[in-house]
Amino acid sequence: MSDKTVNRRAFMTAAGLAGAAVATGARAQTPDPLITEVQPWNKQLGDGVQANPYGSPSKFEKHVVRRDVEWLTVSRESSVNFTPLHELDGIITPSGLCFERHHGGVAEIEPGKHRLMIHGLVDKPLVYTMDDLKRFPGRINRAYFLECAANSGMEWKGAQLNGCQFTHGMVHNVWYAGLPLKALLDQAGVKTNGKWLLAEGADSAGMTRSIPIDKAMKDCMVAWNMNGEALRPEQGYPLRLVVPGWEGNMWVKWLRRLEIGDQPWHHREETSKYTDLLADGRSRRFTWIMDAKSVVTNPSPQAPLRAKGPNVLTGLAWSGRGAIKRVDVSLDGGRNWTTARIEGPVLPLSLTRFYLDFDWDGRELLVQSRAMDDTGYVQPTKSELRAVRGVNSIYHNNGIQTWLVRGDGETENVEIS
Ligand code: MTE
Ligand code: CO
Repeated sequence: MSDKTVNRRAFMTAAGLAGAAVATGARAQTPDPLITEVQPWNKQLGDGVQANPYGSPSKFEKHVVRRDVEWLTVSRESSVNFTPLHELDGIITPSGLCFERHHGGVAEIEPGKHRLMIHGLVDKPLVYTMDDLKRFPGRINRAYFLECAANSGMEWKGAQLNGCQFTHGMVHNVWYAGLPLKALLDQAGVKTNGKWLLAEGADSAGMTRSIPIDKAMKDCMVAWNMNGEALRPEQGYPLRLVVPGWEGNMWVKWLRRLEIGDQPWHHREETSKYTDLLADGRSRRFTWIMDAKSVVTNPSPQAPLRAKGPNVLTGLAWSGRGAIKRVDVSLDGGRNWTTARIEGPVLPLSLTRFYLDFDWDGRELLVQSRAMDDTGYVQPTKSELRAVRGVNSIYHNNGIQTWLVRGDGETENVEIS
């Protein structure tokens, strides 16, 4: 273990001393007015109930918002903003902080006028209202991560964006309630030559993607509820497709139509987009699965280290192939690794939270995390990834991220070879 990795004994001592200082009244010489003087909020009545019928975060948390990168896209309707990962904990993304990615703005759909149609190679074409779906037996609840295939896309050419919100914030993880897609497909009766499904959105982009029928039957969902309440408009209200572990683009929002066919459609989003140009001029196509990935969210450029001594490093790991098995953290650019503490539920195809309690002596750190999933897949370094994929790609960058923590705690996005 290098001197830059966790030194358990030093941490215990530092923590012990800090505790002792408080307990023995070492600070009593300079009484803390916040403790000795009664504060305004202790003297007057607060707002009554119903001051804020739909609750919102404290006004002191106003900085915790989705943010966009203005120069990234020419219009806000076909654009993206990013989840503030460095402000969150646990594994669930609050609904109002889930990144948004739209190709034609947020559709405003009256739920009473929304329909879902299933047609094509089926015995019985069907049209469902939202009420029909909510009365359908067999509703399920699942937590899944959704990662845009373009997450970390700017980083293919080197370290670009200064903050995990911007490098890794095209991911969210919420609870969905809805129906297994299989239940609806079975009611329609997919013909034996029905091998593909086309999902279409009701937004102005009319987004379409081809999905193999095996995946549709295995674990896809049509969901109308996230984190216990109706889907947010940005996330596809009133109905979206959930395609666990697969690239976000396939999770069609404002879902209106499912067509069954015998071949993929090769629409725009699976030909000119969402394919990866390799160095030799060929392209990878149908790269649906999001491979294992992780990022340290704290410290990171928007969340620098504030103090020497005991610190808590934390981050997120996920895999589109299954559950996260292990996460290793390096504080010295990948020379030495310590296995992080995974805490909270470890659900397949869901974000997984990890921590490393460490003692910082003010030295420069090169912080990295490396995820492993239960198939044995290990998150690659960026050099390993480029050796296979070249540098023409936008999508599917799951390389190991490096943050440089300087002596003053300020943190920067860097790459090391
Ligand atoms: N569905 C429709 N109808 N229109 C869209 O523009 N964007 C896709 C997908 N589904 C899109 C869509 C892309 S590229 C992604 S990454 C996810 O939705 C983003 O989901 P989110 O906005 O809930 O984060
Ligand atoms: Co996307």
